[in-house]
Amino acid sequence: MDEKRLSLHGQWSSRLTFILAASAAAVGLGNIWKFPYLTGQNGGGLFVLIYLACVILMGLPLMMAEITLGRLGRRNPAGTFKEIAIENKRSKLWSWVGATTIIAGALILSYYCVIAGWSVAYFGKAIKGDFQHIDTLHAQSMFKQLIANPWQLIAWHSFIVISTIIVIAQGLEKGIERAVKYLFPCLIILLVVLIGYGITTGHFGEAFKFLFEPDFSEIKGSTILVAMGQAFFSLSIANGSILMYGAYVPRNISITSAAIAISLADTGIALAAGLAIFPIVFANGLSPSSGPGLIFESLPIAFGHMSLGYVFGGLFFLMLICAAFTSTISLLEPAVAWLVELKQVHRMKAAWVIGGIIWLLGILTVLSFNYWAEIKLFNLNCFELIDYLTANIMLPAGGFLTAIFVGWMVCRQTVSHELEIKKSWLFNCWRFSIRYLTPIIILIVFLHALKII
Ligand code: TRP
Repeated sequence: MDEKRLSLHGQWSSRLTFILAASAAAVGLGNIWKFPYLTGQNGGGLFVLIYLACVILMGLPLMMAEITLGRLGRRNPAGTFKEIAIENKRSKLWSWVGATTIIAGALILSYYCVIAGWSVAYFGKAIKGDFQHIDTLHAQSMFKQLIANPWQLIAWHSFIVISTIIVIAQGLEKGIERAVKYLFPCLIILLVVLIGYGITTGHFGEAFKFLFEPDFSEIKGSTILVAMGQAFFSLSIANGSILMYGAYVPRNISITSAAIAISLADTGIALAAGLAIFPIVFANGLSPSSGPGLIFESLPIAFGHMSLGYVFGGLFFLMLICAAFTSTISLLEPAVAWLVELKQVHRMKAAWVIGGIIWLLGILTVLSFNYWAEIKLFNLNCFELIDYLTANIMLPAGGFLTAIFVGWMVCRQTVSHELEIKKSWLFNCWRFSIRYLTPIIILIVFLHALKII
């Protein structure tokens, strides 16, 4: 293997910037918007427990596998799979796995930008003081009004897509690194403020119980599939983002400790978001299972009643935009790197072309909340369909195939040399997980949810 191979697009400048950038890619709407509402819809504690098991048993090993692949290949996901397959005398068709992960990323990005746009709208409302003394009904109608207005949604969606394109067009060091260094620590501080608010307003105990007391009578195959999909989504694995960031990792960085740090940061922030949001949900008689609007209907009530609420509210939504933004960057990067490498076009052009396609796809999500709300396939509207297809089918499939590839197709020495785990029992544990545990669990959960077993 050519150790000196470097990515066309540069390298991270230090270990810390890689961990920050990858954590920032992992932490986003998935933790703060999606994790709480999925937990609410899927029964609370049991969902959280299964989610944590998925992170430890499959998420972490897969993340290590992806960073390893990325650093071995130093290319976009499709190129990396192809190159490593050829080096290991395997079929070139493996590049299709990489290509599919790029498509999954683009599909996710299309709706992700729309939701990030909601956060922009809410930032405006927060600093204008619209949340002052707001009650539950008013908060719900404010959210309904926003999603009923496609033009406004398109405007904010366009704002997010264009900003992402501009950062990606600038390239690795100038764009991504600079953006994440400052944004990420601020988010953590604001979550702590919100948890403090939850503790002082009284319904914290109920929220804690809801999140951490599993009710085993509620177990369903679909719950496990949703928890697994969410674990992959939240860690940004199985669709090229982390693999792509791995391609820019310098040789002297330990992949294992980086992957542990990223997983801990991501999981910690998801749980913190739950602890921040559910006390407000319970204190105001909101339903935990109300779906994608959950944080937008609950948080304004808290901000509307705390002193200096417009400052905290403004800051919170600003941070949410930033957290989402560092993820949109990571979602666009694989597709752009792919086009640059395939067609040798300029980064700027590639970013605008792919960004344009994603913008168009995003319109499907915008319309799902208003004009096309009743157009359904399998009882799901466009947004729900894209979300289901990506989180519950493409991500598990990507995870399964990545595990098979790294576990069975790539030579053991190559992987162990790249991963550099000093203790052999630890390496063996990881390899066991990637070869057997991860693929078998994914397969069982998948087949069970489809009612095949
Ligand atoms: N993990 C991010 C979040 O939680 C979203 C994201 C970024 C993502 N890159 C990804 C999801 C790759 C799946 C795959 O908001």
